[in-house]
Amino acid sequence: MLPPSAVPVEGDLLLGGCSLKTIADRFGTPAYVLDETALRERARRFRDAFTSLHPKTTVCFASKAYPSVSVIGLLVEEGLGSDVVGAGELMMALAAGADPAGIVMHGNAKSDLDIQAALDAGIGRIVVDGFDDIDRIAALATAVTPVLLRVSPGIESATHSALATGGVGAKFGIPVDQVPAAIARIEREPLIRLDGLHAHIGSQIFELDQFEAAVAALATLPRFGVYDLGGGLGVPYVPGDPIVTVERWAERLVRAVHRHLGADVELLVEPGRSLVAPVQVTAYRIVTIKHGVRTHVAVDGGMGDNLEPSLYGQRFAPLVVGKWRGPTQTVELVGRHCESGDVLVSGVDLVEPEVGDLVVVPVTGAYCFTMSNNYNGALKAPVVFCRDGVARLAVRRETYDELLAREVGVGAAD
Ligand code: LLP
Repeated sequence: MLPPSAVPVEGDLLLGGCSLKTIADRFGTPAYVLDETALRERARRFRDAFTSLHPKTTVCFASKAYPSVSVIGLLVEEGLGSDVVGAGELMMALAAGADPAGIVMHGNAKSDLDIQAALDAGIGRIVVDGFDDIDRIAALATAVTPVLLRVSPGIESATHSALATGGVGAKFGIPVDQVPAAIARIEREPLIRLDGLHAHIGSQIFELDQFEAAVAALATLPRFGVYDLGGGLGVPYVPGDPIVTVERWAERLVRAVHRHLGADVELLVEPGRSLVAPVQVTAYRIVTIKHGVRTHVAVDGGMGDNLEPSLYGQRFAPLVVGKWRGPTQTVELVGRHCESGDVLVSGVDLVEPEVGDLVVVPVTGAYCFTMSNNYNGALKAPVVFCRDGVARLAVRRETYDELLAREVGVGAAD
């Protein structure tokens, strides 16, 4: 499950030609360690997979999967557009050097501030998620504003319920039966130009039929020149998980588009997880081990830097760095946070874990940095990019001063 450049060696792990032990000593743990070459190659692979079949495709990185200027900037360098939610992610994409024309803004509850920020930046398209978005854009726009309309296609995708977004009753988009009214409403607005439709059915989806069904649902509606099919492709987290390549995803999506919508439409896709998840590991150090009914191996991070197990029951496949072979113990790999739910991996086989060992958890490149938090005063972890034997800090670790920085009362003179 390790990133492509990973080489397990005697007593260490090389990533992008860099020693993980050295990285851990230099930058501390927990740390997000990212294989930069793999990320660049993945970005090109995603672009090629689509443009080789449908040249008029823009791959927009769903920046929510890794809202760091360093990561977005690298993907911008590789020619990708950006999908942002609200003014905050827009600010990050702009700071990363994204061309505003290649940005689409989402949000099921966009505020005036979000819409104003999109208008000020002159982004490519705002994705209208409901009737109130239309009212807000109409009230704020001073020039013709291109939009897409997000359709809720009524597809219950096969994924964790929190990650399914396209079903009947979803909070996202406009149900198919209300779409004609939304189109009519937009057409009455001289400063809103409806370019096309959008559908995103959820995240961590392996059933390609469901993506095709979303395209078919869009085809029941009036035709447009632009279709944005969202993201959602699943990635393997542990051995035995399904593997669906981006090439297969692209082939099925493009085939469905050509069949149902026409070969001449402009296409957008918004992969997040599938682009970034496999290129990163999180490095931890084992702090303590307790033997009892179960063996608890506790590391110096946990739900502060990875909420996936607690929120979505996501499984990971951790490894003790340098102990690539040998007798294993079945343990609870737990974090340092004050709740029993802070389990990184339950019932996992680790090779001779000892206090002080480094543990890597692969496939943490999506949504872990995103949802990191300060639970128990945890400092948010740094991001280290590794490439050609050079490890460089992309995001530094948070400081204790920063932890207190927003407290208006602390040390206030008045
Ligand atoms: N486009 C839209 C409109 C989305 O809402 C999302 C994800 C994507 C694209 C990217 O989907 P992806 O390719 O990453 O599956 N916090 C959750 C993930 C929520 C995903 C939300 N929307 C997690 O930690 O797993």
